[in-house]
Amino acid sequence: MAGRQLFVVTGASGGFGSAILRQINALFGDRAVIIACARNKSKLDEVITGFSAQVKHISVEFGEREGIKERCQAIFDLCAGDGFQSVYLYNNHGFGGDVSKLAQDFDDSTEIDDYFFLNLTSFQVLTSVFLKNFPGIPHTCVNISSLCAIVAFPSMSLYCTGKAARLMMYKCLAADNSDVKVLNYSPGPMLTTMTEAYHTDKMKNEETRGKFKKMKEENCWVDTDESAKKMLEIVKDNKFTSGEQIDFYDC
Ligand SMILES: NC(=O)c1ccc[n+]([C@@H]2O[C@H](COP(=O)([O-])OP(=O)(O)OC[C@H]3O[C@@H](n4cnc5c(N)ncnc54)[C@H](OP(=O)(O)O)[C@@H]3O)[C@@H](O)[C@H]2O)c1
Repeated sequence: MAGRQLFVVTGASGGFGSAILRQINALFGDRAVIIACARNKSKLDEVITGFSAQVKHISVEFGEREGIKERCQAIFDLCAGDGFQSVYLYNNHGFGGDVSKLAQDFDDSTEIDDYFFLNLTSFQVLTSVFLKNFPGIPHTCVNISSLCAIVAFPSMSLYCTGKAARLMMYKCLAADNSDVKVLNYSPGPMLTTMTEAYHTDKMKNEETRGKFKKMKEENCWVDTDESAKKMLEIVKDNKFTSGEQIDFYDC
């Protein structure tokens, strides 16, 4: 694959996000330009030390309504006018939500709205703004999805609902745009900041807590780098039908 590729990665300093960065660097090296959206700059600096890929950093707050479209546009302005062979959006940012509550406990509309703004609305706005940039260049959009988009896990109602909506949103995106490649990728259970509380008393449902506890005891988490590598290879080799969800365990 000749020519320069642009990769935009959100949540880039997080557990899976930083693995995506490392694997882009490993697969594409100096043919990659990465825009890393990360609020934690020092953590990002640790991740990208020694990279041959070019990395541009921007701190983006995806949880704030005011000015979200402009903040999303500022991401792509970092590479305005640059020539690329293809452009990729890895829409990875996300938050697990309050796992101490069951579905019926959520009665605070602000809490619910804030959750869906961060996990769904900003995800959609970013996709829309991305597709308006870099005209004439092939675009690929990747939703970092989850098994929770398909299966209801007790104590994880907001998360499951948000992931289900993201999945359908990207299926619709594929249906509406035959010229855009769209992948929903479920990376498997990984030990990251998001999951570290899931095996503790913070997780209300005993069954869900037990599942994560077992995973911790048996250390059977999916390796973040292995999963990111699989995902990038699926995209690079075009081994997917636009709009479908592929799980780490499927491949
Ligand atoms: N861990 C798992 O088992 C698992 C399984 C399936 C799917 N996933 C999905 O994988 C993705 C990455 O999660 P992770 O496990 O790597 O968790 P993580 O380490 O907590 O990373 C999530 C990242 O999301 C970004 N983020 C959170 N709130 C934000 C905000 N208000 N504004 C901007 N960015 C914000 C942060 O990035 P910065 O600090 O860099 O800004 C954060 O590092 C998520 O979409 C998650 O749902 C995870």
